[in-house]
Amino acid sequence: MAPRRGGLVVLFGLALLGVAGAKTRCRLGPGASHTGCGLPDELANFQGYHECADAVQVGKPATVEEVQEMVKAFPRVKAAGVGASWWTEQFCAGDDANSINIVTTELKSTLDFMAAPVDPKQWADAGGVPPDFPIQVDEDAQTVRVAAGITQRRVLDYLAAYTHWKEPAGWVLPAPAWFQDQTIAGAVATAAHGSSMRYSSLSGQLRGLKIVLANGTLLELSPDSNRHLYLAAGASVGRLGVLTEVTISIVPQQNITRTNQEMSFQEFAQQIKDVQDAYNAAKAAGDEEAMKAALYQLDETQAFWAFPSAIYLRADFEHLARTPDSVLLNAFPAEGEPGVQALSEPVAGVVEQVEKEPVAGLPRMLNGIAGWNSFYINFCRTHIRNGTFPSRQAYISMAAGETAFTSTFAPYEQLEVAIPLERAGSCLMEVGNEVYGPQRLWEGFRVPSLTRFTTQEDYYLSPATDGPLMWINMEDYLSRSSGVPNDKFHKVVSLFRERCGARLHWGKAGWPEHAKCFDGGKEYPNTWGHFGCAVQELDPQAKFASEWDGWVWAATRDGAPVPFASCCSADGFDPACRLAPRTGC
Ligand SMILES: Cc1cc2nc3c(=O)[nH]c(=O)nc-3n(C[C@H](O)[C@H](O)[C@H](O)COP(=O)(O)OP(=O)(O)OC[C@H]3O[C@@H](n4cnc5c(N)ncnc54)[C@H](O)[C@@H]3O)c2cc1C
Ligand SMILES: *[C@@H]1O[C@H](CO)[C@@H](O)[C@H](O)[C@H]1NC(C)=O
Ligand SMILES: *[C@@H]1O[C@H](CO)[C@@H](O)[C@H](O)[C@H]1NC(C)=O
Ligand SMILES: *[C@@H]1O[C@H](CO)[C@@H](O)[C@H](O)[C@H]1NC(C)=O
Repeated sequence: MAPRRGGLVVLFGLALLGVAGAKTRCRLGPGASHTGCGLPDELANFQGYHECADAVQVGKPATVEEVQEMVKAFPRVKAAGVGASWWTEQFCAGDDANSINIVTTELKSTLDFMAAPVDPKQWADAGGVPPDFPIQVDEDAQTVRVAAGITQRRVLDYLAAYTHWKEPAGWVLPAPAWFQDQTIAGAVATAAHGSSMRYSSLSGQLRGLKIVLANGTLLELSPDSNRHLYLAAGASVGRLGVLTEVTISIVPQQNITRTNQEMSFQEFAQQIKDVQDAYNAAKAAGDEEAMKAALYQLDETQAFWAFPSAIYLRADFEHLARTPDSVLLNAFPAEGEPGVQALSEPVAGVVEQVEKEPVAGLPRMLNGIAGWNSFYINFCRTHIRNGTFPSRQAYISMAAGETAFTSTFAPYEQLEVAIPLERAGSCLMEVGNEVYGPQRLWEGFRVPSLTRFTTQEDYYLSPATDGPLMWINMEDYLSRSSGVPNDKFHKVVSLFRERCGARLHWGKAGWPEHAKCFDGGKEYPNTWGHFGCAVQELDPQAKFASEWDGWVWAATRDGAPVPFASCCSADGFDPACRLAPRTGC
């Protein structure tokens, strides 16, 4: 079949059904979130606007061994989940037929489970969980081991139903992401997050992983096995290889009381400023208890900012396990915590892409700003109404039907900024002055922005690597429907970047516009060198470099340029070296 115009896009939907070359659509049914496929095909490489070059091949391995064969066989490789990340350059392995995106949702056991979810009760009746089953709960270690391509939603549903052994209430991921239909490895790879000052991102909740390296070797890592490579691989954006399995912390489900308060934008900004001041004063005094007490005020908090009406809806969560003592200044597991259990020719499963039309624009998005604002704010209100619910329901998340609806309703771009908590309140006030000033920047927004918080974690590429964060997720619903750039929206993002030192989410849009000429040494001054050394060690031929031009490293020693590799050891980047500024961009 000759390559046709189009993206990996389509193909994912089809690939999930094991069908190549026919236009098919996965259905979302009530009860079962996905029938017969990992995700509706509309979600694949989100809404069809972020395509790879036509010639890029698609790998649909049925086993981990086939993943290893494919990685070895191709010079340019990138792992792919369901393409929910809005960023072509980072997502695509390359631009020619020597490039392959390897889809993790096609492994047989993953596909079987996604097509027909299993109630764990059946294992209780049958006398145990089969060893090749893609979700393995270890109640004693309080971890779950999950195959890369299983979606977060399915992990959560399975854990909640895992009530037939030691924990009658079932289990839950301690701090899941709001969106649940991404693959679990895609979430870990991009440090996707919910809101937690104890567990931080999905990377922060990680306890071990398996990754296929450039030479096809399957490497297992845990916090205790090789701290340096583990800190690199735990949030690696596909740059070090293909994750095939992740082990993540779980906690028992419990009753969680959610309360929702509405306030003005100014009031919310003042609340954040008060936390910022308390945190900074405690930090300056070296008082860790007071630092934790400050962070506790935002632990698990999630808040929607309705730009047009300058209102914030703030949701907070209370439960027995949430106390000031439960806050961690760093989510990285202490030494000795349980890690993961020990454990040229045409390549089968490689196919070409299939065309799919992107989601059509919705011109009425451009008008009636007040109407859209109240439509969405009411939607948010129902999501965070007061009440007590089991963990699986208590935290704010997108229902399967909402994922299906929003993915086809109107085209949009989602991007998220990560602002150091140390300046988060001042930042909101300063940016707010511009948003509500003469430029009327609020006019660039239709859908409320979700604000969340995570504590520090040591993964080299985690945006929280240098301290706790306030995250603001923003959606541009105008540019795709109008055909012209949404300048007011982008102005707000630029303000967060320039005035507040915000980093960008690795699994979302905005990099081509807001991180052009990304200089890792500037954005991640303390860890970019370490990550570069892991790349040097595991992928010196740059097989996993993708189409992004930002994966570059240069170093100096005693002020003179030296080969970057000469600054690397088994522990990472030599502190006697310095990262050199990026040049030629
Ligand atoms: C509607 C919507 C809402 C969202 N909400 C949230 C949210 O609440 N919180 C949040 O943090 N994020 C959110 N996201 C972002 C999303 O969690 C990330 O983009 C996530 O990476 C998507 O997973 P995926 O399986 O689609 O990965 P892809 O888009 O397929 O891949 C994303 C990146 O991860 C890498 N990757 C994927 N799988 C692997 C693997 N097995 N091994 C190594 N690297 C891999 C890819 O190479 C790529 O660089 C949202 C996305 C959408 C579409
Ligand atoms: C949650 O509350 C309900 C109703 O009071 C109760 O039946 C249930 O056991 C509680 N669950 C947990 C895990 O405490
Ligand atoms: C929800 O609870 C909060 C805190 O108790 C309260 O201020 C608010 O009015 C309640 N909201 C509703 C709709 O009852
Ligand atoms: C593959 O690469 C890893 C990391 O560089 C190395 O440790 C391993 O020995 C290599 N395996 C083979 C078979 O070359």
